[in-house]
Order: sequence, then C-alpha cells, then structure tokens
Amino acid sequence: MVKIAVMGFGVVGSGVVDVIKKNAESIRRKAGKSIIVKHILDIREFPESLERHLLTKNVDDIMNDDEVSIVVEVMGGVEPAYAFTKRALLAGKHVVTSNKELVAAHGAELLAIAKEKNINYFFEASVGGGIPIIRPLNQCLAANEIAEINGILNGTTNYILTQMIRKGQSFEDALQDAQEKGYAERNPAADVEGHDACRKIAILSALSFGKHVDSEKIHTEGITKISLEDVEYAEEMGSVIKLIAVSKKLGDKVFARVSPMIIPREHPLAGVEDVFNAILVKGDAIGDVMFYGRGAGKFPTASAVVADVIDIVKNIDRNNRIIWSKNDENLLADIKETMASYFVRVKADDKTAVYNSVNKIFGDCSFITIENSKTQDEVAFVTPEHKEAYLQEAVARIKKLSCVHAICSIIRVEKG
Ligand code: HSE
Repeated sequence: MVKIAVMGFGVVGSGVVDVIKKNAESIRRKAGKSIIVKHILDIREFPESLERHLLTKNVDDIMNDDEVSIVVEVMGGVEPAYAFTKRALLAGKHVVTSNKELVAAHGAELLAIAKEKNINYFFEASVGGGIPIIRPLNQCLAANEIAEINGILNGTTNYILTQMIRKGQSFEDALQDAQEKGYAERNPAADVEGHDACRKIAILSALSFGKHVDSEKIHTEGITKISLEDVEYAEEMGSVIKLIAVSKKLGDKVFARVSPMIIPREHPLAGVEDVFNAILVKGDAIGDVMFYGRGAGKFPTASAVVADVIDIVKNIDRNNRIIWSKNDENLLADIKETMASYFVRVKADDKTAVYNSVNKIFGDCSFITIENSKTQDEVAFVTPEHKEAYLQEAVARIKKLSCVHAICSIIRVEKG
C-alpha cells in the first residue's frame, strides 16, 4: 500500500481524492499496489466533506510523516506551493503537481532536487489538463528533435473566441458567459491576457529544448482587443481567430510567443473549439502529431495527476530523468527579428489613398471587404511577410498618414 498526501482541496484536489477512491480497484491493478490518501492540506474548513477526518491545516503533518511517500500539490500559485514542494522533495517525497505557474518559474531547480534525491517531480497536469503531452514529449517522442510546437493551451479564451465566432457574441458577453459556466475565474486576467498560455508554452519549450525558458520574457498578447469585426473579417478570409502559443528552434535560440492569430479553416488547430485544447508538435522523425482533449476541469486534470501518481508507484525507486537545466543567459530569440504577415484594419474616408499608401509601405497587400454597416469607413488588408521590427516602423508611418483616422486592429496571420 502507498500512502499519499494532497495539498489543496479545491476543484482539482477534490477531483484527485474522488478518482483515487472511485477507481481504487483498477488503480491497484495498474499500479501494483493500493493507493490511499492519508492527509489533505487546506486552510479552509470542509464540515460537509466525507474526507474531513483527513484534513489538516499543518503542513508538518505531511512533511514529518514517513509513511507518506508521494505528495500531490494542487494548491496553485507560487507561494507557499514552492516552499512546500521543495521541502517535500528534500524530505525524499515524490511530488506530483498541476501547478503550471510553479513549474514554469522553478521547474529547473525542483527537477534538479528530484534527480539528486532519486525521486520524481511530475507535472503532466500542468499543460493541457487531461491531455497527455508532458510524458509523450519526454518519452514517446524522445527520438525526435522537436522543431516546433503550436498550441491552443487555454480553454477559457478558446471558449470565448468560439462564442464570438459561432454566436456573434461580443468579447464582454462571451467572457460573462464563460464566468457563469465556471470556465473563467472572476478575475480572468491570467487567461484573457495570455499569461496562463504563456506559462504552459514556457514549460513545453523547456521540456523540448532542454533549458529553462523565462516565461516573463515571452512575448504575450491576450484576446481582450479582439472585436466581432475582426472575427467577421477572418471569416471572409476563410479563417478563424485563435489564441496560439508557439515555440520553435531558431538556430541556438528559441522563438516563443503567445498571441491571437488568424489561421485558415483547414489548419489542424482551427477546428479546436469551446474549452478544448490541442497541441501540434513537429518532430524531425515523426512529422506532425496532434494532442487534443479537455485542457481544464476537475476530472480531466485529476486524471493526469493520478496517472502521474500511478507512474511513480510503479517506479518508486528511480528518477525518471525529466530534466531541463537552469539557464542564466536569455534563450529567447528577439521577437523583432521574427517574420509574420499581418491583418491590419484602419478607419479611413479616402480609401484609394489608403490602398496606395499601404501598398507603398508594406508591398502588395490583399484587401478584404465585408458587408457590415460598422465597417463602411474602414480599410482592412493583409500584408506580405515582414520582420516585427519593420511592422513597428510601418505602424508609425501609417499613424502619420492624413488619410488614416485610427488603427483598429493588428493581428498576425498564418497563411497555411
Ligand atoms: N484557466 C485555465 C484554462 C485552466 O482556461 O485553460 C487550466 O490551466
């Protein structure tokens, strides 16, 4: 029998406890041993919970209990999760987590401690919720040099964009809808500003390229500025708008970015809707492989956490060699040096003057028109590919044009 402790009895923590109880027999068969929860750490009271006899507010009850060999950290946030995780690992306890913020910030150090102690720090649930992606990258695709990863890594924003595309809801209405359904937090900034997806792509980058990638330095844009007009123009282009996290090798640097992108309907990520996530990985041997499923929620996330626990039980005496090194130099390529094509939408009266001017600034642009009373005074176009540095220069020039009254949107375009 293996005894574990769960730190955090919120949505994911209670899901972990439920799954371990509900599937006890099949888990015992797969792990080779029974797994039972001995302690649950939370500062809140749960007087109605069937597990209330396991609850403690004192982390020492877990750290000082030699019977507990695996700790599940599903508290979220960096502190006190970081201090507790470090303490557990230093005490020789394996740790499993869903905490992407902590893995993105301190993964290299925590993995190094786990290696030193010949134990494991597993985090399958930290990216893509229930979708297997960490283990596939680390094991099943280990023969490949990973060239590129593109992903829809945030369920909340994907739900909001889907509502805007399918139902014509505004961003604000779709966000409220997501909050009412429990997908978006009351403070939705981490999701809608792209920070959640950014932490996840930082983890996937570190895993794929072997070095810590500083999530704070990844160029990150959210979806708060996306309007229904943008969605309609994308539709006219035979495309959809998605929040795409990308990471790829560029020489000895890594290019990573989170931003809304207009992608063609034929793109493998275009059909990923609602709260679903998907990760498209390009390896030199396998080519393209895509992982798709529920990226959040109580039971999908618990599924990944409990699978990590089972894996540890099966390999209790060895470190599984998931590792990336600490890295003081900045591994990230300068976004200004990267190329993209851009959808640009401007307010203008003299449209012919705008056509001529933007063709001079960018080279031959493709102009898009939609029948919409709100866009009669607009010019929208897609530019040829340029460096981001040039885009900034070009935007400054457009702002100075007397025929342009305002720039409404600039969204990167994947031509497919
Ligand atoms: N807020 C996250 C999402 C939850 O919407 O995808 C899972 O990390």
